[in-house]
Amino acid sequence: MLAIIGGTGLTRLTNLIITHRQVMRTPYGEPSGPVTFGTINEHEVMFLARHGYGHTIPPHDVNYRANLWALRDQGAKRVIAVTSVGGIRSDLTPGTLAVPDQILDYTFGRSFTCFDGKDKTVTHIDFTRPYNEKLRQQILAAVKRAGETCVDGGVHAVTQGPRLETAAEINRLERDGADMVGMTGMPEAALARELGLAYATIAVVVNHAAGRGNSIDGIPLETIGAVINPAMERVKAILEFAVSSDGD
Ligand code: HPA
Repeated sequence: MLAIIGGTGLTRLTNLIITHRQVMRTPYGEPSGPVTFGTINEHEVMFLARHGYGHTIPPHDVNYRANLWALRDQGAKRVIAVTSVGGIRSDLTPGTLAVPDQILDYTFGRSFTCFDGKDKTVTHIDFTRPYNEKLRQQILAAVKRAGETCVDGGVHAVTQGPRLETAAEINRLERDGADMVGMTGMPEAALARELGLAYATIAVVVNHAAGRGNSIDGIPLETIGAVINPAMERVKAILEFAVSSDGD
């Protein structure tokens, strides 16, 4: 089954016909909320709001392990994660959608692996290509079928937050090769790989990164709402097509 993780601006899927909600307990504690089950265009989907249904859990406090574990336990094979980002590359302006293909991880202090504990043998995952390419292509096809456009690929930097970056930090991220910056892409992507889930991201650019574009003297946070709402409507339209693509 396909699972969708919604981020800021996507705490509810309005096109989801809900069948039931499941409260979950996992070896890692509780997920961000109950997993919502339902159908979109007669395709079964599950949905989880990453920051909780009331949007109360900040990026560094999300129980990423419990979230991914719960989705897999309930039968998810594929996970489409929706996340908002700041645009660093000049064509990644507010309102742009992107399906990144690489990650730079700057997070710290988060529970980033399911392979810990003294009783577990040392396990490494291959993470050369952090996103599942087949799922990325399915999202790109869904974007076309929805009559939408998006940027194919890009390096998604993930910072710790919850504060936004300094202009110098954004310059450093750019020198490192980052095209966009968000706060929730990691350890989510790595945990999905550890748990054997096909995982890919739709990134919604909601602001110019610090020191860029109209964020030259500060990120105009009050303008984000006006960008995020119509952009998430476009994401929902894309998801309607993405759910009908084949599973594995
Ligand atoms: N930086 C980090 N995370 C973000 C941003 C940003 O500019 N915009 C949305 N999420």
